[in-house]
Amino acid sequence: MKIQIITLFPGMFEGVLGSSMLWKASDRDIVSYEFINLRDFGLGPRKQVDDNPYGGGDGMLLNPEPLIAAIELAKKNDPEAVVILPTPRGETYKQSEAKELATTNKGLILICPRYEGYDERITDWVDRQYSIGNYVLTGGELPAMVIIDSVVRLLPGVLGGETSTEIESFQNDDENIEFPQYTRPEDFQGMKVPEVLLNGHHAEIEKWRKSHSHKAE
Ligand code: 6GU
Repeated sequence: MKIQIITLFPGMFEGVLGSSMLWKASDRDIVSYEFINLRDFGLGPRKQVDDNPYGGGDGMLLNPEPLIAAIELAKKNDPEAVVILPTPRGETYKQSEAKELATTNKGLILICPRYEGYDERITDWVDRQYSIGNYVLTGGELPAMVIIDSVVRLLPGVLGGETSTEIESFQNDDENIEFPQYTRPEDFQGMKVPEVLLNGHHAEIEKWRKSHSHKAE
């Protein structure tokens, strides 16, 4: 899967895409991450990418010309790719969307807005608009990383046991919350591992896990 990221701050991604499973996925050629620096498409000698909003208001908005030029380059690289715009105005991103994106066999183009937002006319070039929750962030980079992480971990060959993603939390959005788990030591400061998990009785363990698959209190 080819993942192209349009951003003014590619450095923000280094630690996240360069560590652990997201790094392994690219090392195994299951994904490639490619950056398109929006600044390269800036206007004039100062490579400007933003301007004041019509109608007044705080902050600056990304101009359409640099963003559309960047999207068109990404589309030229990968014409079938799905164009995703992280925005608080989008629908709430859920596990079902992650699954869908992981199984379409299409690349992703993620646009990372900054400042107070973007010119609404760019949405004609966008396939999906997602919010990652009811709070406000300073830009689209963190939401883009959240989306990338949630999709890449579902690609075949990224996680070890195929089943670990299947049985896990949020298989279907709000259902199938994960059960509590324990590792050594058996007794930690007087807090014991539930007896049923120690006896090796698989049916009973299954039953216990099912009955404990709800949100932490
Ligand atoms: Cl996608 N963007 C920003 N800036 N803030 C958010 C968000 C997205 N989702 C939740 N808060």
